[in-house]
Amino acid sequence: MGKKYNIAVIPGDGIGPEITTAAIEVLEAAASRKDIEIFTKELKAGGAAIDAFGIPLPHETIESAKESDAVLLGAVGGPKWDNVDSDIRPEKALLGLRSGLGLYANIRPVIVFDELKDASPLKNPGQIDFVIVRELTGGIYFGKNGVYQSGDRLPDGTVKGKVAFDTESYSEGEINRILKIAFDLAMKRRKKVTLVDKANVLVSSRMWRTLASQMSFDYPEVEFETLYVDNAAMQLIGRPSSFDVIVTSNLFGDILSDEAGQIAGSIGMLPSASIGVNGMPGLFEPIHGSAPDIAGQDKANPFATMLSVAMMMRSLGEDEIASEIENAVKKTLASGLRTSDITFIDEGKNTKLVGTKEITKAVIENL
Ligand code: IPM
Ligand code: MG
Repeated sequence: MGKKYNIAVIPGDGIGPEITTAAIEVLEAAASRKDIEIFTKELKAGGAAIDAFGIPLPHETIESAKESDAVLLGAVGGPKWDNVDSDIRPEKALLGLRSGLGLYANIRPVIVFDELKDASPLKNPGQIDFVIVRELTGGIYFGKNGVYQSGDRLPDGTVKGKVAFDTESYSEGEINRILKIAFDLAMKRRKKVTLVDKANVLVSSRMWRTLASQMSFDYPEVEFETLYVDNAAMQLIGRPSSFDVIVTSNLFGDILSDEAGQIAGSIGMLPSASIGVNGMPGLFEPIHGSAPDIAGQDKANPFATMLSVAMMMRSLGEDEIASEIENAVKKTLASGLRTSDITFIDEGKNTKLVGTKEITKAVIENL
């Protein structure tokens, strides 16, 4: 008998159910040829869990996720839950899963497929192939926050009123472990690390910078550069092909990875892996959101989720299945099939607009 994997599937909201169904179908087809068994267990989180249980992340979801070999997540959130109490927003589910599973490293590869070369809005993007390594369980997302009433006035006499605050704080341990992930990854790639921070203003950033330059001495083969985040936003547009591994804090990584998604043409193509503490399952998800405007219409691009499943299988040591899924996605793109988000790219040039189901069928045939 072959190997068995237990995959926790959290479809979430919006297009989440369509894209996770598509990606699991592809995974099951690829695994069955290799005598590998895939067991899936569907779990609720986000808006779907708010509707069913009144909370975004039920205890059962996090406990079942912990028992799995890996977690596949679609997307959470949508306008339906925009007005719920801020303590139970759908996004809380994602943050709770990340911290509950100890997933401190978010790996977001940015690659442009040959078939989608014209997708980038940049004129001469060159060969884009970099990875954003984003710290995922610290910083301002998880720092002390609150709202309090102040009786003070601003110097010009304006009443202060309520004050809302969030805190960016990082420990040496948190910074060093994510830096190590980035440097080790660079050693397997083109051996370049770019630290993105705001060390000209923030104390916490200065600690990142000190620790990163110290660590760079342990990796003499790795070229190490630092960029302030405002400049990094500019350089990503100006010289995207010069980046290999970008390592940064939770908030900066969130912002820059959406920028990277645009550089790569369609955010519907980009997968991600969140990994962390030994013994805990990794969480794999597309970097895009729940796209409520096209949900339930068979229009969503399932490629980012399929590529996330490929990252999942690679993390489980199943490189062959991972490559097969990636190649099947490439072959399907090469055959000219496109979902609506990427149709415009080479419209009329032997491409055909299809829905989620049809493109998934094609990927399975191309395995
Ligand atoms: C992401 C998303 C999340 C984040 C949201 C949905 C909380 O934007 O995964 O990039 O900010 O981390
Ligand atoms: Mg984001």
